[in-house]
Amino acid sequence: MDKIDELITQLTLEEKVGLLSGKNAWETLSIERLEIPSIHMSDGPHGLRTLADSVSAMDEQEAIQATCFPPESTIACSFDRDLVNKMGIAIGEEALKNKVHIVLGPGVNIKRSPRCGRNFEYYSEDPYLAGEYGAAFVNGLQSKNVGACVKHFACNSQENYRFSTNALVDERALHEIYLEAFRKVVTSAKPWSIMGSYNKINGVYGCENAELLHHLLRETWGFDGIVISDWGATNERVLALKAGLDLEMPSSHSYNDEKVYHAMNKGEVDGICIDESVCRILKIAEKIQDNEATDYQEIFHHELAYEIAKESFVLLKNDGILPLNIQDDFIVIGELARNPHIQGGGSSKVNPVYVNNPLYEMKKLKDRIAFYPGYSDKGGEQEELMGQAVNAAKNAKNVILFLGLTDALESEGADRKTLDLPHNQLALLDAISRLNRNIIVVLQGGGVINCDFENKCRAILHTLLMGQAGAKAVAEMLFGEVSPGGKLAETYPLKLADTPCFNYYPGGAHNAYYPESIFVGYRYYDSFAKPVRYPFGYGLSYTTFDLGTESILQTKNAITVRCSVTNTGKYAGSEVVQVYVRNKSKKDFYAYQELKGFEKVHLKRDETKMVNINIPISEFKYYDTRTKRFEVESGTYEIAIGTSSRAIHRVFPIVIYGTINKPTPDNIRSCYYTKSAFSLEDYRRLLGLIELPPEVEDHSKNYDLNTTIGEIKNTFVGKQIYKMAKDEVKKTSIMPPEILESMIDSITLRMAALSGTSMSQMEGVVMMLNGRMIKGYQKFKKPEGVSLNGKA
Ligand code: BGC
Repeated sequence: MDKIDELITQLTLEEKVGLLSGKNAWETLSIERLEIPSIHMSDGPHGLRTLADSVSAMDEQEAIQATCFPPESTIACSFDRDLVNKMGIAIGEEALKNKVHIVLGPGVNIKRSPRCGRNFEYYSEDPYLAGEYGAAFVNGLQSKNVGACVKHFACNSQENYRFSTNALVDERALHEIYLEAFRKVVTSAKPWSIMGSYNKINGVYGCENAELLHHLLRETWGFDGIVISDWGATNERVLALKAGLDLEMPSSHSYNDEKVYHAMNKGEVDGICIDESVCRILKIAEKIQDNEATDYQEIFHHELAYEIAKESFVLLKNDGILPLNIQDDFIVIGELARNPHIQGGGSSKVNPVYVNNPLYEMKKLKDRIAFYPGYSDKGGEQEELMGQAVNAAKNAKNVILFLGLTDALESEGADRKTLDLPHNQLALLDAISRLNRNIIVVLQGGGVINCDFENKCRAILHTLLMGQAGAKAVAEMLFGEVSPGGKLAETYPLKLADTPCFNYYPGGAHNAYYPESIFVGYRYYDSFAKPVRYPFGYGLSYTTFDLGTESILQTKNAITVRCSVTNTGKYAGSEVVQVYVRNKSKKDFYAYQELKGFEKVHLKRDETKMVNINIPISEFKYYDTRTKRFEVESGTYEIAIGTSSRAIHRVFPIVIYGTINKPTPDNIRSCYYTKSAFSLEDYRRLLGLIELPPEVEDHSKNYDLNTTIGEIKNTFVGKQIYKMAKDEVKKTSIMPPEILESMIDSITLRMAALSGTSMSQMEGVVMMLNGRMIKGYQKFKKPEGVSLNGKA
């Protein structure tokens, strides 16, 4: 009998049940008599957000200081797996020092719409890229014996209504787009844990989804770690346990423990099912018990954060004005130059060790630099600030203008309403551009920004969210010490209305439609030849490159693309060779092309290097809805080699002998072969439903814990809940009122119970909402009873 089997025999049922949920907000139960330690978890994903006091819920206290690395949306533009791996290692070192055993990251959800408020925490619109990065991060982190928790499984594509909505996704999109990055990370990097999402997927909550948790994750992908609920994402605990959710987080203060306990005693849940989950949790507890709180060098991590930023910034436009000569006449305008927006808000927000600012870094290169804030990063019109800046710009030769999203505009909990820059910044740019054409915009923000102002400036350097150390790289790039080499990991559309899910995003409180199916991001724009502002994979450099002497070597299991890259310009720089695969046989509907390999090369002036990119034949796969698995269609393909999805340098035809010879074309789904706008009727047929459920359902008189505040805020009881939630959210949020409103509307009663009220009191509220005023009120007022394992 091994140690864990032995422990299982010694644990009481009460203790076993206690291990299946947090003892507080961040830790699992420890059982001293059997020397079972707590497992300590912290956010994630671009640095540690560890709270000194684990008992507190979310945002009441400041986290301990940690390195704020550039968030995922930034590092994704590096196209450098090695850097992502290094970031994982560094975060692992910080976790060790702070006695954290599992870091809640990486986030590998797909950026379905640029409006998603949390896109800054995700890598890409492309599942291949997100999967490659996710695996690199997990490998790095876990090399330090600190576990990863890959999130949010699955289809957490929006912030509005994330606690209640149901992502209605067809099978192909589900497997090819929304699950693919998870598949890759699980099968290639073996993460210790996965986080179940809040939302439903095709009618079933992420944490209750036996099809995803049991069948796919464990049986098909071979996952042997633990499934953890997103914080508060457990709906019916017993159902979730049976479906494969091992650990409920945070503590439900025994509300759910008692349900499991009673279900077990009544024979509604199998003891084996409990033992299996306990066993998985104990395996992690065993893994971490000898971890030592080793120290790390803050300065090395700061340097790495700088390196990542430097490799990730994307030059979107340059007519030759950049790089500037440091001796040139220029002024700097924009509050974000001295107070940069380095990360988004919400559970990922790191308390940085130090934050460098671009203005200070520029002043290190040149003593006297005139600076004008021009606007306030709190929004609103500031005539005086603007007037001073515009006046100064009139007489300057060049203007370096810092623009971007602000802390209030990019946060977990609500989707962005617009892709536009704040109005005060656009007004400033407009006024300056009437007087001075030599404007260099330095852009900040983790989500896509509407760049229809591009004709008003001569260059745009996109520094995304630069983390705590990116400022130095901004100064170095502006003055040519370093050439930009980042490439966009998501498409910049001409306008928001061009995005494939525009008409249906974010859907309603109860259902979110995904009619675009697999046509997400560049898969959509490229398949239907839609113009875009900046394509996927795009980014300029100060130097120029030649791609040459390509060849393709084909074996039974893989193809290898060989390609030389020569730096033909005047600066050292880097280029990313990207390989896209195009299926030319098309017996089923396909995207025009898909990224299947990439490699970044750094080249000195006149230098040439060979790049080898290996693509396993299995990557030519599509999800077959008839055989219910990935297949490779036999037939002709093209291998397109380029430097963005729209800059293809050379195309090679090849023939592949796959796993399926002649898939029968599917008439039901035929509309998806050719059309670029998918009707709800097409979508209904694709889903195989008789009728689409409405985006917003009428639950009045039938409210439950999953009812949103938005649904009840006009009722008598709902008004009080709305007010309580608003007061609570306002304590920590700096969002503008309209975004704050969506955030509050989206909160479910179950989530509201996490801060303050207990779950059983909230049941009383539900009773009152459903007209049982007296009984409900009594329940609401009744103090909590004694609970299991002292988790009261
Ligand atoms: C977020 C997770 C996060 C968790 C703990 C949730 O609201 O969705 O990503 O890890 O909180 O902070």
